[in-house]
Amino acid sequence: MIFTVAIDGPAAAGKGTIARAIARETGFAHLDTGLLYRAVGLRVLEGDDPVRAARSLDPTSLDDPRLRHADVAQTASRVAVLPEVRAALLEFQRTFARREGGAVLDGRDIGTVICPEAEVKLFVTASDLARASRRYDELRAAGQEVTLDGTLEEVRARDARDGARATAPLRAASDAVAIDTSDLKVDDAVAAALSVVRRRLAGA
Ligand code: CDP
Ligand code: CDP
Repeated sequence: MIFTVAIDGPAAAGKGTIARAIARETGFAHLDTGLLYRAVGLRVLEGDDPVRAARSLDPTSLDDPRLRHADVAQTASRVAVLPEVRAALLEFQRTFARREGGAVLDGRDIGTVICPEAEVKLFVTASDLARASRRYDELRAAGQEVTLDGTLEEVRARDARDGARATAPLRAASDAVAIDTSDLKVDDAVAAALSVVRRRLAGA
């Protein structure tokens, strides 16, 4: 069966949490596409050229814990502006989306550019402050030295860059279902998303 769940939205809205839960419940394969851009960002911080880094990336090994660092996230959003970087990462994501057995992808342009034909499109949002404080808690728990104000500033800077770029800007697809997780517990956000997927899988 070919069935794609496309999940887009701004930083720390809860996309990954929802995507992983859908993958667990359905058995679909999951791709966190942000990790592709983070991996390019990490290589750039190490001195590599962004386009060369994107073209030579091994998209199957994205488990470096440094990819979670706040400075890597910022560099990711800077390289994500470059059309050649996006082009180099496109085919892998498209093929993943239409693989046999179902796929869930989360990112910024999944429903608009990577897989406009996705059977389910979700646009996950939350207030700036809710997102920044969640990301702050995560980074602190991982031992990173960050402040809430600094995290809020970084999240806003990244959202602004992701929304304003010319190529594949962050946008809700016109047929996306919006889920605002500001006041939702993780389980409730997951339940809302799963009910959309289940309805579509049942042919409703
Ligand atoms: O993938 P994305 O950056 O959009 O967000 P995430 O990594 O899924 O979620 C960021 C953090 O927010 C995680 O620590 C989640 O547990 C938390 N979260 C939450 O507190 N409430 C939600 N409704 C969704 C996520
Ligand atoms: O987890 P979080 O939402 O904070 O970020 P991420 O999904 O890991 O993405 C890191 C950065 O990669 C984003 O700020 C975007 O600039 C870029 N990105 C993108 O341009 N397109 C995607 N499909 C996914 C990420």
